[in-house]
Amino acid sequence: MNKILATALITLTSITMTAKDNTKHPLYKDPKAPIEQRVEDLLSRMTIEEKVGQMNQLVGIEHFRENSQSMTAEELATNTANAFYPGLTVKDLEKMTSDGLVSSFLHVLTLEEANQLQKLAMKSRLQIPLLIGIDAIHGNAKCQDNTVYPTNIGLASSFDVPMAYTIARQTAAEMRAMNMHWTFNPNVEVARDGRWGRCGETFGEDPYLVTLMGEATTRGYQGNLNTTQDVLACVKHFVGGSYSVNGTNGAPCDVSERTLREVFFPPFEASVKAGGATVMMSHNELNGIPCHTNSWLMEDVLRKEWGFKGFIVSDWMDIEHCVDQHFTAANNKEAFLQSILAGMDMHMHGPEWQEAVVQLVKEGKITEERINESVRRILYTKFQLGLFEHPYVTAKERDRVINNPEHKATALEAARNSIVLLKNDNALLPLDATKYKKVLVTGINADDQNIMGDWSEVQPDDKVTTVLKGLRQISPETEFEFVDQGWDPRNMSQAKVDEAVAKAKEADLNIVCCGEYMMRFRWNDRTSGEDTDRDNLDLVGLQNQLIERINETGKPTILIIISGRPLSVNYAAEHVPAIINAWEPGQYGGQAIAEIVYGKMNPSAKLAMTMPRSAGQISTWYNHKASAFFHPVVCGKSTPLYPFGYGLSYTTYKYSDLRLSANNIGKDGLLKATVTITNTGDRDGVEIAQMYIRDCVSSAARPVKELKGFERVALKAGESKEVSFTITPDHLAFYDIHMQKTVEPGEFEVMVGGSSEDAHLLKTKFEVK
Ligand code: BGC
Repeated sequence: MNKILATALITLTSITMTAKDNTKHPLYKDPKAPIEQRVEDLLSRMTIEEKVGQMNQLVGIEHFRENSQSMTAEELATNTANAFYPGLTVKDLEKMTSDGLVSSFLHVLTLEEANQLQKLAMKSRLQIPLLIGIDAIHGNAKCQDNTVYPTNIGLASSFDVPMAYTIARQTAAEMRAMNMHWTFNPNVEVARDGRWGRCGETFGEDPYLVTLMGEATTRGYQGNLNTTQDVLACVKHFVGGSYSVNGTNGAPCDVSERTLREVFFPPFEASVKAGGATVMMSHNELNGIPCHTNSWLMEDVLRKEWGFKGFIVSDWMDIEHCVDQHFTAANNKEAFLQSILAGMDMHMHGPEWQEAVVQLVKEGKITEERINESVRRILYTKFQLGLFEHPYVTAKERDRVINNPEHKATALEAARNSIVLLKNDNALLPLDATKYKKVLVTGINADDQNIMGDWSEVQPDDKVTTVLKGLRQISPETEFEFVDQGWDPRNMSQAKVDEAVAKAKEADLNIVCCGEYMMRFRWNDRTSGEDTDRDNLDLVGLQNQLIERINETGKPTILIIISGRPLSVNYAAEHVPAIINAWEPGQYGGQAIAEIVYGKMNPSAKLAMTMPRSAGQISTWYNHKASAFFHPVVCGKSTPLYPFGYGLSYTTYKYSDLRLSANNIGKDGLLKATVTITNTGDRDGVEIAQMYIRDCVSSAARPVKELKGFERVALKAGESKEVSFTITPDHLAFYDIHMQKTVEPGEFEVMVGGSSEDAHLLKTKFEVK
């Protein structure tokens, strides 16, 4: 070889070697270097196996260890809360991690395990830290001693958007203190079917409310994604799972593009545009195409239309379900290929991904550049979160942060604001403790941790205030008699019901705590929550009998409902004098309920989801089209039991003098609607004022009203305040007959009041010229 050429080659090789293999100080490990450069440097050092490994998520080792002893292969196919990998051992998982073939773990529940896994990752050639993901849906409630806030449906019923931000911020801090970096929330699906077991993890039925709650939650989790107090949000599930045939989880969703764009897309778009770093696809197929292989959703809508820059994760083995549920792929390898080509970045979870995807690249079916795109997106977040610099967390830091007094105070405050008073005949509530000295407390939810809701694991008893504990704490002078009905609504004992009825006759007043059962550790015994869908909305088991017979003793009776879904409590709505719908109020739920029962707190929440009279009424959402009730049903009522936005207080509010800043505006104009609200009762309170808009005549049929503004207004007894809402062109725009988003000229109606029900709304009109 020519001497000069040889020298040049040696020099070139050594330059490349210095740039690439200077393992002592590689560029990607330099915290001061720009993230883009760090990503490219790291990517350039990775083998194809390591790259595919970065797209790979597995379940945590302790979870695996536990389940591989107790689960059968049959259970594995259907159970979406537990998992193991037949044929693999704990040692194999550890080796995959220290070989750099795992990017992320989920279902890791302790700091010790998170640190232990990171230690394994730090043994790998390139020392890429792991992203630990967890379903921190309402606080990091799956982990011991972390704060448990109300679930999303309750939070939405408080209409308290800043509170959603605060909870997310606090949750992020607790997660990072547990060395966890990625929460699978916010769930911004618009819930339109109470049969679906997951309503509780959503922000309810209204696209506008869900949008604001989702956005605030996303921002709260993420901050600026540049400190060790920030975590990645996961905007989920995209899309249609909340509107499935039969209302069952994972069933097909057939819905028009118009309804997708008007109802289901807006919250996703907003959270993505608020910076949401990851998106999870939905179990179901959408109009025939599984969401997990749907390039229209992933590439066209998410990335091209909305400019989503983060990474997309599959849901629990849902790519595999293209083979055994949707039958759109012959085997897992083909499903992986379809999914990646459609835009998928990370696989939750399963043993086959690694080998199959590497093979697909080697066979030329997926280009390495396509793999690089996904790996770049994933690595980017690991650098943003500072994981390369901070792979571990100390127990001291954990103990300082989790369930600290500030977070506990937030959990209590959020619970107080999320509880809806549905009925209060003759002002039975708040209770006068001097009048009702002996009180019977009973029902499956009277003294159970179930009060925390789905996505919580069992917590130390002293951390959770059940209803019974809360009542005893708030009214120590009252004699509470408790008849335990067990926790299991399906297997209640007739003898125990009889005992409660007998005791009810002796009591001055009765409190019956009913509802659903959601605790995950008894996965197959639940009546609500993930994969726990119903074909009716009645109370399960002997609960109705318990309420009826206790109420018929003639002693004043209060029903307290703990549930993530709206329940058709028809008997109670007609006969029981007082009903409180507490949703799933979290660790201090019992205290908050007791404070409301005894008047230490004045309830303020309003339903974030309509309560239908029966499953036949699941489509009575408030923002229906006018013709939905063209012909009312026979032998029944067309109106729901309690409408969206409804909720009582111990005081009363009067709305008056609704006025607009102008009677007509141009297409791009702004308008102010102002109303006076007066607290006409004798107690201070907080009223949730709501503004709805209707497009009176439009080229495509529009809802009879849509929420476009709300405010929590604190009013002292007798006080009046003026409240203003700004109406923007965005509030008036819709998809016209040509599917163009536009504001059509013509008349619009503005409605303001304390509920979506017409009788509670003041109305006025304006015109768009
Ligand atoms: C659920 C997701 C969840 C995931 C991980 C799935 O079954 O649908 O919402 O994030 O499990 O636990």
